Amino acid sequence: MTDTLTAPTATRGLVEITGVRKSFGPTEVLKGVSLTVEPGGVAVIVGPSGSGKSTLLRTINHLEKVDGGHITIDGQLVGYKLRGDRLHELREKEILKQRTDIGMVFQNFNLFPHLTALENVAEAPVVAQGRSKEDARRRGLELLDRVGLKDRAGAYPRQLSGGQQQRVAIARALALDPKILLFDEPTSALDPELVNEVLDVIRELATSGTTLIIVTHEMGFARDVADTVVFMDQGQIVEQGTPKEIFSNPQEPRTRSFFSKVLEPAFNI
Ligand SMILES: Nc1ncnc2c1ncn2[C@@H]1O[C@H](COP(=O)(O)OP(=O)(O)OP(=O)(O)O)[C@@H](O)[C@H]1O
Ligand SMILES: [Mg+2]
Repeated sequence: MTDTLTAPTATRGLVEITGVRKSFGPTEVLKGVSLTVEPGGVAVIVGPSGSGKSTLLRTINHLEKVDGGHITIDGQLVGYKLRGDRLHELREKEILKQRTDIGMVFQNFNLFPHLTALENVAEAPVVAQGRSKEDARRRGLELLDRVGLKDRAGAYPRQLSGGQQQRVAIARALALDPKILLFDEPTSALDPELVNEVLDVIRELATSGTTLIIVTHEMGFARDVADTVVFMDQGQIVEQGTPKEIFSNPQEPRTRSFFSKVLEPAFNI
């Protein structure tokens, strides 16, 4: 959790999700979701499979369009602009530009297999922000250092462990200096002994002032790192609160029932 005495005060990265609805065919998978994450805040989303966690995350960077409601980042609409009283979708180029503010880390790393670790990290700043190659390379090495991989800068993804690949993916997401970072189950494709090295990197980011929204099944990590734990079920936010409130004193029967199934009896809050 952020130390208020030493952490930088975040001034950017306010996420406001208001009444977001999304259907796939006849199935409504987000049924009016509203959530605010303050600048520099860390929100962890938990809930059963199929509850809409990934879909919600994907609406935040407009990988999914919404059917109702809206999302703003620092007051700016994501994916749309308001003309009169109607929302119109932005053009592809504008969407891509907006997305440089929003880093995303996926379960399966999604690194470019034909690029080295450093090239993976340095590519987007050159292509999307017009930075010089030299500048992007220097910054890329700094970021690889930050995730503990400076000595593997020249390695290709196939030469790296899953945990190392995911740390490269995190460095790549940081390279555009995003306002917010989205993580969709960043450790669930990893062997158990590699989970902590990735969680430790995210823990460090949690104190850095970047807004983080994390979907995970790692409840101990959620307890340690979240300002706000959000419990979703069947396309709705059932309950949200501090880790203490949600894990030790959930108010809603659905939340209680979920945690009684997923938390070890010895889980301490
Ligand atoms: N592109 C799609 N087309 C049709 N249905 C979809 C699509 N994406 C998701 N869904 C459906 O929407 C619902 C919510 O899916 P979502 O992936 O958001 O759940 P989740 O909470 O992330 O689950 P998990 O914990 O298993 O990752 C599910 O019923 C899923 O089958
Ligand atoms: Mg998911």
